[in-house]
Amino acid sequence: MAFLQTQSLGIRFGGLLALEDFNIAVPKGGLFGLIGPNGAGKTTVFNLISGFLKPTEGRVLFQGQEITGWPPHRITFLGIARTFQNIRLFGELSVLDNVLTGGHCRGRAAWWEAAARLPRYRREEKERLAQAWMLLEDVGLADLAQQPAGKLPYGHQRRLEIARALATRPRFLLLDEPAAGLNPHETVELMDFIKGVQARHRLTLLVIEHNLRLVMGLCERLTVLNHGLTIAQGAPGEVRRDPAVIQAYLGK
Ligand SMILES: Nc1ncnc2c1ncn2[C@@H]1O[C@H](COP(=O)(O)OP(=O)(O)OP(=O)(O)O)[C@@H](O)[C@H]1O
Ligand SMILES: [Mg+2]
Repeated sequence: MAFLQTQSLGIRFGGLLALEDFNIAVPKGGLFGLIGPNGAGKTTVFNLISGFLKPTEGRVLFQGQEITGWPPHRITFLGIARTFQNIRLFGELSVLDNVLTGGHCRGRAAWWEAAARLPRYRREEKERLAQAWMLLEDVGLADLAQQPAGKLPYGHQRRLEIARALATRPRFLLLDEPAAGLNPHETVELMDFIKGVQARHRLTLLVIEHNLRLVMGLCERLTVLNHGLTIAQGAPGEVRRDPAVIQAYLGK
């Protein structure tokens, strides 16, 4: 059984079929990639898996359980987290507070326990804080914990977004163009970083990336989208030689 699977997934926006008959089966512990030209439907796949959009066709299964059309918070609670193509941090909040926002989805205390600061809420708050510090250490941002997130250099913001996603304690992580805006040196660093995070947190990953060097070096298997259709699927070496892929994407 695949850890995450989509079956004939599709969505239509008015007259536009943004994604059609999308099938992917990521095994537990896998590191899969999703590539394709601008507007191919990559982010749409993430939106459908994470519940930000509801599909008009097909199904999403996580560990064999159907989660099609579930709201984002339930999907997060089940163990799926994502980052965004355009970084979405709370720029005014500190680095630490940004990570703390991720941890709240795991809180069990009721609102009235929080309001009255009853023991369970205080205990959970302490745990969240300890976890946030651990994650900041893990992504190498502990020294910057009190800085406003918006003031960090771009590469650090990318890591912070990953730390916030990790704070929800995911088992499946979706990264939408994590190398966007990074220079070649930072991109190589990011590749090792992603592999390290995957190992330390025992994650299964699906990564969207325009940077082919990154994706070829990182992913075990690639799916290539073009105009909402899957034009190739396979090991990076095979996909790279596929004439349809060269035509649509690599040849550019
Ligand atoms: N919420 C939406 N409403 C209407 N159209 C949408 C919506 N989201 C995406 N689209 C359209 O669906 C198509 C696929 O968009 P998507 O963002 O998934 O592409 P992408 O492969 O992530 O591209 P990029 O590489 O530029 O990020 C595009 O034509 C886009 O304009
Ligand atoms: Mg996109």
